[in-house]
Amino acid sequence: MTTSADPHAYDAMILGAGAAGLLCAAQLVQRGRQVLLVDHQDAPGKKILISGGGRCNFTNIHAAPDCYISGNPHFAKSALARFTPADFIALVDHHGIAWHEKTLGQLFCDGSAKQIVAMLLAECQRGPGAMTLRLGHPVSDIDHRNGRFGLVLNGQHSTAPALVVATGGPSIPKMGATGLAYDIARRFGLKVVEPRPALVPLILGGDDVLFRDLSGVATDVIARTGAGKGRAFFREAALLTHRGLSGPAILQISSYWRHGQVVELNFLPDCANDWLLDAKRATPRQTLARLLAQHVPDRLAAVLADRLQAAAQDRRLLADYPDATLRQMQAQLMAWPFYPNGTEGFAKAEVTVGGVSTAGLSSQTMAAKHLPGLYMIGEGVDVTGWLGGYNFQWAWASAVAAAQAIAAA
Ligand code: FDA
Repeated sequence: MTTSADPHAYDAMILGAGAAGLLCAAQLVQRGRQVLLVDHQDAPGKKILISGGGRCNFTNIHAAPDCYISGNPHFAKSALARFTPADFIALVDHHGIAWHEKTLGQLFCDGSAKQIVAMLLAECQRGPGAMTLRLGHPVSDIDHRNGRFGLVLNGQHSTAPALVVATGGPSIPKMGATGLAYDIARRFGLKVVEPRPALVPLILGGDDVLFRDLSGVATDVIARTGAGKGRAFFREAALLTHRGLSGPAILQISSYWRHGQVVELNFLPDCANDWLLDAKRATPRQTLARLLAQHVPDRLAAVLADRLQAAAQDRRLLADYPDATLRQMQAQLMAWPFYPNGTEGFAKAEVTVGGVSTAGLSSQTMAAKHLPGLYMIGEGVDVTGWLGGYNFQWAWASAVAAAQAIAAA
């Protein structure tokens, strides 16, 4: 613990007053530590404030290691097991913040995301330690000498034996996101797994642009991409946009999608494999578009039917199609292939896949294996959660793991 008379000597310096940085600071203060928390933005927790449509989807009760993408699928296990959704819910309850489950285990504030930021700041005031919060200035001259990290902030040199990098990933630069975590990692000999935009809309080109005319139409799908171990599928809503595809199912699949890969959409997630054949027998004078409209919005049904009928020489009634053709149509409706041109990039990505490689970090403490005073937490690390509160849960869990280790050092 710091007992030095130097007012700029701390027990820990944390870069980034976002989700992970704030909780890490609070945990250290409550363990009696002197903490410097810095952020180049003029206010803490800006991404928390805009998260979950302003209501912050602060955790997911189903959070488990297999809901995360990482070069090492085992890396997140220890931290997630030691700080669980129930632990964060207990904190939220302790502060009297009302919440509800929206869908699929996703917990949101009834009121506002501001309550989560206020809660974290209040937790940072619960001594015996103390936090010094410095906002609105760039950090420079980060170094490590004689067992202490140093940095310069607004002309002032500060030091600590522990440096926690909680500056997140480069998604949404206009919210203050930067690649500082990667720069620091490389500088101190850690590897960085290529960062890619994730939880991001996909852009359609080629033949698929016709679907852009349906901008605003949403439908329940199963979205699939990848092959082998990289194969992923999600059942949720897909939204057609003026640039391509979005909605929860697409955002989820975007985290797994790689350039050149197909994204298949099953537009009939509740239909049996012989649904079209059964319909032909039951209602032979029905049109394909009218039948499809029982399962997808009318405008989408019309476009899907047009495209299928073009492939089937423009026949009209179900009775007009041979069984084999109907089987092919159904197969296409259940695995409609899209070949996205790309994603809408970091400007629109909720998170980043990739980041500081877990190979150089301890999964118990988040510390660099070869430089134990250096900690990497939150989105900057190569651990990326699904949509729905999983990313905040990783931010909380990795922050607590680092704080426990710093306090024990
Ligand atoms: P976070 O981004 O929170 O904090 C990093 C901090 O570092 C920022 O305050 C930033 O200003 C600061 N910083 C960056 N570069 C710096 C530099 N060079 N110098 C100094 N400071 C620097 N997740 C979820 O689980 N539920 C949800 O509801 C949502 N919703 C959501 C909506 C939107 C629009 C976005 C963009 C993202 C989400 N997310 C989400 C994802 C979630 O916001 C994200 O995973 C966490 O905020 C990551 O926490 P971190 O603390 O790692 O980074």
